[in-house]
Amino acid sequence: MKNPIQVAVTGAAGQISYSLLFRLAAGELLGPEQPIVLRLLETPEALGLLDGIRMELEDCAAGSLRGVVATSDPETAFDRADLVFLVGASPRRPGMERKDLLQTNAEIFSVQGRALASAAQPSVKVLVVGNPANTNARIAIANAPSLDPRQFSAMTRLDHNRAVGMLAARTGASPGDVRKVVIWGNHSTTQYPDLRFATIAGESALSKVGRAWYEQHCIAALQERGAEVLKARGKSSAASAAHAALGAMRTWVEGTPSDDWTSMAVFSDGSYGVEPGLVFSYPVEVRGGQWQIVQGLDIDDFSRERLRLTEAELAAERDLIRHLIH
Ligand code: NAD
Ligand code: LMR
Repeated sequence: MKNPIQVAVTGAAGQISYSLLFRLAAGELLGPEQPIVLRLLETPEALGLLDGIRMELEDCAAGSLRGVVATSDPETAFDRADLVFLVGASPRRPGMERKDLLQTNAEIFSVQGRALASAAQPSVKVLVVGNPANTNARIAIANAPSLDPRQFSAMTRLDHNRAVGMLAARTGASPGDVRKVVIWGNHSTTQYPDLRFATIAGESALSKVGRAWYEQHCIAALQERGAEVLKARGKSSAASAAHAALGAMRTWVEGTPSDDWTSMAVFSDGSYGVEPGLVFSYPVEVRGGQWQIVQGLDIDDFSRERLRLTEAELAAERDLIRHLIH
C-alpha cells in the first residue's frame, strides 16, 4: 500500500476548486492507485460552504481519497503538503485587468509563502493559479526563503492549452497532434503566444494557418481569451482553469513527452535576456520532477519586441509589491 500524497488546495470553496477537487479525488492527478489526502484552505467566512464540499467529496467514495482536511489555518492546510495549488484569491470582474487584483490579492501570497516554508514538505511543488499569478508567485517565493524558487510555478498552462485548442479548431486537426506551442511572459494581455516552433501532425503550424492570421488575429485572440470568457459567462474561466491546473501539476510530476514541451511561468535565471528573479513563462521540459527552460530558440525582432513588453509589465508589477518581497 502506497503512502498517501498530501495535496493542498486554497480557495477550496471557489468555482475553480469545484471543478478541480472531484477530479483530484478521482485520481486524475497521480492515478487511481495513488492514495491522496486533500487539505483544503478557505477563509473563515467560507468554512460552512467548504463543509458542504467536504461532504460531497466523501459522498463520491472515490477509491484514491484517504481523507479531507478543511481549515482556515494556512499552516494546517500546508502541513507536510507534497503538492499545493494556490487558487484562493479574488477573480477579476468585467472591465478589470488581472493586475488590478494585485493590491487585493498580494497579501494572501506573502502569508501563504511563510506558511508553506514552515509547514510543507521541503520538496513541495507549488502551482500559483490566483491572479495576477506570476507576481503572486514572486511574492510567495520571497516569503518562503527556505524553499528553492524552482519549487514554485505560476500557471500559464491555460494559455498554452488555449493556443493548442485554437490551432486545432482553425485547422480541423486533433489537439493531440499539436506540439511545441510557447507562451512567453506574463499571464496577462502582454503574454506572447509564439507559434513559430509549433507543429501539427509533424508539419509547421504556421505554414498551415498562415502568418497573417497568426499575427493579425491569433495573438490578440489568445491574449484576450480570458476577458472573452468573462464577458460571455459573467464569471472568469473555471473548468478550463481547473483542467489546466491538473495538467500543469501532472506534467510537473510525470514529465513532458519526448517530442514536446510545455509552458510554465518560473523564476527567471536570465534566460533569453529576461531580468533574473521575475516569474516569467518559458517553454520548459520536465524530467524527474524538475523543469528546465528550453534553450537556444531563435528570437527574431518580432519576438524580441514582445518579450520586452511582457517583461516590462512584470517588472512594473514587481515594483508595486516591493514591500512584500523585501
Ligand atoms: P472564486 O472567487 O470562485 O474563488 C476564490 C476562493 O478563494 C473563494 O472561495 C474565497 O473565499 C477564497 N479565498 C480568498 N482568500 C483566501 C485566502 N486567503 N485563503 C484561502 N482561500 C481564500 O474565484 P475562482 O474563479 O475560483 O478564481 C480563483 C483565482 O484564480 C482568481 O484570482 C482568478 O483570477 C484566478 N484564475 C487564474 C487562472 C490562470 O490561468 N492562472 C485562470 C482562471 C482563474
Ligand atoms: C483566465 O485567463 O481565464 C483567467 O486568468 C481569468 C481571467 O481573469 O481572465
